[in-house]
Amino acid sequence: MKVLLATQKPFAAKAVEGITEILTAAGHEVVKLEKYPDQADLVAAVSDVEAMIIRSDKVTEEVMAAAPKLKIVVRAGAGFDNVDLAAATARGIVVMNTPGQNSNAVAELAVAMMIFMARTQFTPATGSEIQGKRIGIQAFGNVGRLVGQKAKALGMELCALDPFLTPEQIEAGGATPVFSVEELYSRSDYVSIHIPALPATIKSINYDLITKMPKGATLVNTARKEVIDEEGLMRALEDRPDLKYITDVMPDNYEALREKFGLRVFATPKKMGAQTAEANINAGLAAARQIVDYFATGNTRFQVNR
Ligand code: 3PG
Repeated sequence: MKVLLATQKPFAAKAVEGITEILTAAGHEVVKLEKYPDQADLVAAVSDVEAMIIRSDKVTEEVMAAAPKLKIVVRAGAGFDNVDLAAATARGIVVMNTPGQNSNAVAELAVAMMIFMARTQFTPATGSEIQGKRIGIQAFGNVGRLVGQKAKALGMELCALDPFLTPEQIEAGGATPVFSVEELYSRSDYVSIHIPALPATIKSINYDLITKMPKGATLVNTARKEVIDEEGLMRALEDRPDLKYITDVMPDNYEALREKFGLRVFATPKKMGAQTAEANINAGLAAARQIVDYFATGNTRFQVNR
């Protein structure tokens, strides 16, 4: 089968080597489309491929329509909001992710971001320490749990909210369960966001929620920009000069935010949470193995469009 590795943000060379090795050893052919400047390049590259490995690359209805042989798309990573699942299902295309494989990299970045903001973006201004502060973890999945472990090791107090877990499961992960998003925000010096972008979560982090945070609090977003109500964030930062925001997903209004709030806001130039050699290797190789297994045995364990 012909497998397209389509990564607008390329994997580390070692990950690409490993992916190629796994797929070719199983008799598949690998073609690569990296750092492509335009979505049209992706559309043009899929005409004869049976499988795709992607990252945040957008697999839209248009891409699928241009790929009549496509049978499987594996998102090497966790979030699959970049794939049109309904269109895939309608065409009988299996979509999978590789949950957990890049989580540690994202969790490490979330912790680094807290320290970066606590230390005033590494300027000489007097900062604060994160030890003894409370972190609220919004969604206690693969990334949230790892953030919790690291934060605990740094002496932080943990609370977490996750509608899919029981209080006992949250406690077993080392955090105090909270029962509403309002409670999470009002109790936390740092809130670390780990929710997916879904109709119910898009723009759900709004003015009312952000302004519930205690004095001097910082909101850390290594998830998706869509979950933030950017206009509400702007107003919250205006009305509460003590609050800060740091994100790995560039807000649409970043220039205005930065101009108005200076060192109280920061966005990485390009999403980099999962951009470590280890995460690239873990997620990329898992994706390649899932494709090999799917064609060999029909295994759909990680399918997300059932
Ligand atoms: C994910 O959902 O796995 C992360 O957001 C990483 O995305 P990336 O592969 O585009 O870096």
